[in-house]
Amino acid sequence: MARPLKKTVSLSAIKHNYHVAKKLHPKSKAFAVVKANAYGHGAVAVAKYLDSTVDAFAVAAIEEALELRKAGVESPIMLLEGVFEAEEWSLCEQYGLWSAVENESQINAFFMANVQIEKLFVKVDIGMHRLGVDPGEAPNLVEQLNHSKRVGEVLLMSHFSCADNLSSNTTSEQLAVFNQVSSLCPEVSASVANSAAVLKWDIPEGGWIRPGIMLYGISPFDGITGEQLGLQVAMKFTSEIISLRVIQKGDKVGYAGSFEAQKEERIATIAVGYGDGYPRNAINGTPVLVNGVVCTLAGRVSMDMITVNVTHVPDITLGSRVELWGDLLPVEEVASLASTIGYELVTRMTSRPKIQYS
Ligand SMILES: Cc1ncc(COP(=O)(O)O)c(C=O)c1O
Repeated sequence: MARPLKKTVSLSAIKHNYHVAKKLHPKSKAFAVVKANAYGHGAVAVAKYLDSTVDAFAVAAIEEALELRKAGVESPIMLLEGVFEAEEWSLCEQYGLWSAVENESQINAFFMANVQIEKLFVKVDIGMHRLGVDPGEAPNLVEQLNHSKRVGEVLLMSHFSCADNLSSNTTSEQLAVFNQVSSLCPEVSASVANSAAVLKWDIPEGGWIRPGIMLYGISPFDGITGEQLGLQVAMKFTSEIISLRVIQKGDKVGYAGSFEAQKEERIATIAVGYGDGYPRNAINGTPVLVNGVVCTLAGRVSMDMITVNVTHVPDITLGSRVELWGDLLPVEEVASLASTIGYELVTRMTSRPKIQYS
């Protein structure tokens, strides 16, 4: 027997969500962003399933790309952060990888390496100040790379810092900076949009979009769920009740006794904890579905267990089914009660919950 904890991933939901992104921007090609183990959904399984559907995949670093190539994934794969070491350029050539270039050391190493790369994306810093060359340097760099004759196509790329905030002017301002650079690089395609920009901003059409979180049915926006955006939730994180007890008024539950019963209550212990990726800072009152009924976390999250108030749920037994997040309980809602975002909850899950694909 094993702990009854699992994540069930719907691959067809991820494909559906990819098509949602494509339909919003029919003139653009679309990367499927599968970095960080496809945001916790299993990069190899997701990429193999989508291999004949997507225009290309995007990952953070070469290790992630090579894992996919070794599993037989054939679509183009792009390195969003570029190479970390000069030797990686020859692997890019060997495995047909595309790459961002964003700093002098990557660019010098490219010019030193005697390689031919199909597509390079010159990343421009339009105000996030995390990666990218200055806007003023980009047109010259595009020209130099084109002149080298060692790149099949040179493109421009950037990333917004506030696209998830629909009431901020920052995205329009950053887009104006990008458009100015673009206008100095005629005929050069562009890639600027993450999920938030794909879903809600007026972005240049015709280049490459880069949806990540939306592929998994999770919203990039505060207070809006993936489902409300027309997405299908891909991951269901489930477990079971492993112990049950009735406690009396004044009894305390869990480490530090942070939940105190106000009357006689029924408490269920569930096999999941922070050692599996359930957030330790989820507060008392965080929703948990037991037999489909909304219950609430009662007491501190332990490494392997949580305790939940199930007083109002009929027909509870050991083995009753629990949804921690999924299509009936949005991960965004759990995340906000743990002072984080859906992105973090799915990407930081540990290897303990078994994955099943449906
Ligand atoms: C450069 C880049 N593009 C696209 C994405 C996908 O973003 P999202 O998951 O918000 O769609 C990311 C994710 O962090 C990224 O770093």
